[in-house]
Amino acid sequence: MIKGIIFDLDGVLVSTDELHYQAWKKLAMDLGIMGFTKEDNARQKGVSRMDSLEIVLEKGNKRYSDEEKLTFADQKNNFYIELLQRLTDDAVLAGVKETLIMLRKKGLLIGIGSVSKNTPLILEKTGLKSYIDQISCGLDISKSKPDPEVFLVAAKKLGLLPVQCLVIEDSKAGIIAAKAANMRSLGVGPEYEQLGADYKYKNLQCEIDWDSILNS
Ligand code: BG6
Ligand code: MG
Repeated sequence: MIKGIIFDLDGVLVSTDELHYQAWKKLAMDLGIMGFTKEDNARQKGVSRMDSLEIVLEKGNKRYSDEEKLTFADQKNNFYIELLQRLTDDAVLAGVKETLIMLRKKGLLIGIGSVSKNTPLILEKTGLKSYIDQISCGLDISKSKPDPEVFLVAAKKLGLLPVQCLVIEDSKAGIIAAKAANMRSLGVGPEYEQLGADYKYKNLQCEIDWDSILNS
């Protein structure tokens, strides 16, 4: 029986992909890397900031020290935070608020499991904070998805066992992490059919058979 739902943030609750893309693209251009595309950006889904940076740098032909890489990641994050200042509840994806309200009415606990260190800012800006019971994010963990740490921390904060949690994700790394955490998973987003999730729905606006999922 499922007692808590752990939501990924980027691409599941809010639409931030374009902002991540713009910030990485600006960094790439500043470094003289011209070939960074939206397809490369799609590979950054669910991937930590430093691993995402490697996806940008592999499009160029220079090698950088760890110190330089940290500076580049900070640069990207500064652009990204500038863009996040303009975020409003318009960025909340279709069906999200209704789903959160409905699940809470059913007595479920709601958690966030996101590797983004900007999770608190995004929840604040979009007004989603009041719908969430516990947050597990990049600030709480040392290993990024596909490691299960972020979901295990979320379950612990919610006071639940992993088997009592359902993860909702839009990335392959996230579904692998959910399985490694011994949690069931529901995949959404443009690649929902290819993620390997236990339950597959295009988005949270779909007619989801919650009763059978929650009682399974
Ligand atoms: C994930 C995104 O949620 O957070 C990734 O899908 C991103 O694209 C990662 O790299 C880390 O985010 P941040 O905000 O800490 O740089
Ligand atoms: Mg995501």
